[in-house]
Amino acid sequence: MTAELDKTRIPQHIAIIMDGNGRWAMDRGLDRTFGHKAGLDNLENVTTLCSNLGVKYLTVYAFSIENFDRPAYEVEALMGLVLSFIKMDLFHNNNVSFHVVGDRDRLPKSVQDKLRSMEEETAMYDGMAMTIAMSYSSKQELVNATKLIARKVQNGEMSADDINEETIRQHLWTSWMPDPDLLIRTGGEVRISNYLLWQCAYSEFYFCDTYWPDFNEEALHKAIESYQSRQRRFGKTEAQVEEEVKVKK
Ligand code: FPP
Repeated sequence: MTAELDKTRIPQHIAIIMDGNGRWAMDRGLDRTFGHKAGLDNLENVTTLCSNLGVKYLTVYAFSIENFDRPAYEVEALMGLVLSFIKMDLFHNNNVSFHVVGDRDRLPKSVQDKLRSMEEETAMYDGMAMTIAMSYSSKQELVNATKLIARKVQNGEMSADDINEETIRQHLWTSWMPDPDLLIRTGGEVRISNYLLWQCAYSEFYFCDTYWPDFNEEALHKAIESYQSRQRRFGKTEAQVEEEVKVKK
């Protein structure tokens, strides 16, 4: 049974760590790369489901900088998925724009070009923004932001005393999107693996055992239902938050 959701409290931004592709494939006696293909098919389903629910930003972890250390054939298979298997109808039919965050320079040139052309082809869509974190590392993102800010201080464009949280936010690869409301990790591990460390400071976390290729509508609804059952306090007390809700009504 799919959980009944409160349509007025759908998370604006869902981030997902799509884990478990390899184990999904091995359980079926298949090579791990088949799991990634199944994972991509499921990403298409989940993108459509999120867009239909009214989610505004979906940001998924497709490939970390650390993943470059996997066996070469697996890295090539993942790059091949980007080059050959992402269906553009997904974006055209759902008014979804496509984006990438990460250190693009480390990706093969053919993949960089493909990602850029997908971004351009979908730039006019103003429904949901679907972002893949590709060649991504949150620590590298923070190092990169620090360098950009340091250069501005060096050039005299700003003073060190002017640096605040907003300055750092503006220099992240994700500067144009709001922070995730809900972070989902599939596949049973309970860690965030260098994903959106700054951005998830106040996100609600949801971990489940389901392998990513099996994370279907029912599983997505369960995650959102869990999110909706929580009170987000952002450091305030329960009473303060309840008062704020009353004033809003
Ligand atoms: C983690 O599962 C998954 C990845 C490293 C890749 C995620 C990629 C997809 C879902 C396909 C979409 C891909 C692109 C490039 C758009 P794992 O391989 O670590 O699984 P395991 O934990 O079972 O070994």
